[in-house]
Amino acid sequence: MSHGLAEGLEFHGFLLWTGGLERIAKLNRRIVSGGQPGPCPPPSFCPILWTHTGVASRFATPLRRAAEVSVIFRQLFDPETSTYTYLLADEVSRKAVLIDSVLDQFERDVRLLRELELELAYALETHVHADHVTASGRLRDVLGCRVGVGESTGVTNADLLLRDGETVHCGELTLEVLATPGHTSGCVSYVCRDAGSIFTGDVLLIRGCGRTDFQEGNAATLFDSVRGRLFSMPDETRIYPGHDYHGRMMSTVGEEKRFNLRIGLDRSAEEFAAIMGELDLAYPKQMDIAVPANLECGLGVVPNEPDRLSALRSKSVASVMEESGRQDAEIWMGSGI
Ligand SMILES: [Fe+2]
Repeated sequence: MSHGLAEGLEFHGFLLWTGGLERIAKLNRRIVSGGQPGPCPPPSFCPILWTHTGVASRFATPLRRAAEVSVIFRQLFDPETSTYTYLLADEVSRKAVLIDSVLDQFERDVRLLRELELELAYALETHVHADHVTASGRLRDVLGCRVGVGESTGVTNADLLLRDGETVHCGELTLEVLATPGHTSGCVSYVCRDAGSIFTGDVLLIRGCGRTDFQEGNAATLFDSVRGRLFSMPDETRIYPGHDYHGRMMSTVGEEKRFNLRIGLDRSAEEFAAIMGELDLAYPKQMDIAVPANLECGLGVVPNEPDRLSALRSKSVASVMEESGRQDAEIWMGSGI
């Protein structure tokens, strides 16, 4: 069934990238045995679920990779802050990466990893968020993953301070770090050639972009990051943003070049700076809590810390499992998670 998506994609509640009849059959078998095509779970749990292989072969340089990797992908949503969290994993090694986790969704993500039998190797951040507290530090405490952030974020207790051009290897999966400052000075995007996708955080949103009026934001810098770096990728490259407030889930480089009124088309750097200067946006509700917490991977000391935040930060796996109604918390704990 066609939904106007790229050639080779089908939508079944799952999106499948299929490289041929053989692969279609293989993936359909996987759906029958491992997935549940049909209505999606509630949006707070998982708005979309898809698995694909061979995407990289669809892209011209620079998104081409020699080897084909089977990628497990989930786009997850936090309705309170309209934040997307992305789970990527290599189907063979079962090693996984979470990009831009949300502390309020810690339980959801831990449970999903467990259900899919994935080992979380990395919790990566696109930037120091001002609108939500990250779960990365908590995930590290509980699951033993490594936390990676851009080298210019100012985060003090990350395991990896990622530089432009560096790569993160997770099983057969590779993520390349692309410095894309402008929303904040430490923003990075992650290029996953295996999935033909870029995870842009807040630097480029669907038909918009992140604000540039705090955290060393700079409109001219953001313009260069988007126009000079992200828009230099092939047009078919998928864009997965850090947020969307209008129910959209993904875009492409080509789409944003054509339809992003703020920074696409023939918009000049001067026009863009003028637009950003006139936005007059409200002070983020969570900023005074989120930024100090996130400068330490979500674990930083927060002045007048709300009880709710303390409770979230101290949640154990056992309590998570009890709350989610699972009877096998002991078995779960016994597996070392
Ligand atoms: Fe942000």
